[in-house]
Amino acid sequence: MTAPTQPAGTIAITEQAPVLLGHLAGFVGHRTIAVGLRSGLIKTLADAPGGLSADPLADRLGLDPWYVAVWCRSAFGAGILDRAADRYVLAPHIETLLLDTSSPAYVGGVFLVLEQREVFDQFEASLSSGDRMWWNECSPEWIDSVSGTGTPFYTRLIPGGLANIPGLTDALAAGCRIVDTACGAGVGLVRLAAAYPNCELVGVDGDQHSIELASKRVTEAGVADRVTLVCSPLERMDLTATPATVIINNISMHECRDIDTVTRNVTAGLEPGGWFVISDFPFPDSDQGLRSVPGRVMSGIQFFEAQIDDQLLPRAVYDDLLTRHGYREIGSAVLTPMHAITYGRR
Ligand SMILES: C[S@@+](CC[C@H](N)C(=O)[O-])C[C@H]1O[C@@H](n2cnc3c(N)ncnc32)[C@H](O)[C@@H]1O
Repeated sequence: MTAPTQPAGTIAITEQAPVLLGHLAGFVGHRTIAVGLRSGLIKTLADAPGGLSADPLADRLGLDPWYVAVWCRSAFGAGILDRAADRYVLAPHIETLLLDTSSPAYVGGVFLVLEQREVFDQFEASLSSGDRMWWNECSPEWIDSVSGTGTPFYTRLIPGGLANIPGLTDALAAGCRIVDTACGAGVGLVRLAAAYPNCELVGVDGDQHSIELASKRVTEAGVADRVTLVCSPLERMDLTATPATVIINNISMHECRDIDTVTRNVTAGLEPGGWFVISDFPFPDSDQGLRSVPGRVMSGIQFFEAQIDDQLLPRAVYDDLLTRHGYREIGSAVLTPMHAITYGRR
């Protein structure tokens, strides 16, 4: 990779061209994976541990064998398939990484989210108008695929990520009130209810469709009796009637139009000594970070964020936020290069 500070003219075109070719290859790999996820090709190979050649693979899914052979070759090139003779198998850990939505390492959802029109197509269409939108204008497919991206964040947070926070695990085990602010489609509420059976939960989200999905999900999980759902912007949320011990926000704090107003509402809704836990993408705050692979993926997410009038934030912004609002015992933990938590006590 070229150092950001390298002066123009000191690099040969033959060194610069591979930078672009790498992007082309990445695009091909990305599209190959997304097609493989949507069509069931990757799932079918996961279910055939001895591997399959293209013809029986096509046959199992009722797909065209010639096209499937083209897909297999590209997936082999992208490193997601291995092959022995004419049989293709998933490369090590690919099943976990792309299909296992319960794994903390799951990244399959990110491929599907980046393929949605809300990311690049709509950004490009609005490039001159600068039109903004909000969640209620997004498609149900978008909301579904965002929930798929948020799922491994919850998996890492509950219970492992929360266990980094001194004193919190004991409070959760004993039973307390937890609020998931910007709960989206309710994946976190179900996870919290399962991990902490003595706790009562509240989910707040500003998008009515997401609240309806959350309601369906908590009912299906059999935990609706412990969950209250509220449709409200976090900027107007009032939790003071029954203060909570823990208030969580997963991959949404950066989206708030006014993080200070939201933090004031969170603080007012916490018991003295209660915890505010912000789980989010740590957007790079350096040139080097922007050119890292996680930084580049997060820059992709920024195309959507821009359209809802925000941007992912560097993690240190949350240290300042919690300090400004008088929190104590402020701490943070990096869970992956694209996931960090920041927390403090009221
Ligand atoms: C990226 S999704 C994350 C949802 C969920 N936490 C997850 O991880 O699956 C962001 C959610 O935040 C909600 N949201 C964003 N800004 C909000 C605000 N200011 N007030 C209430 N909800 C908000 C959106 O409606 C959406 O459901």
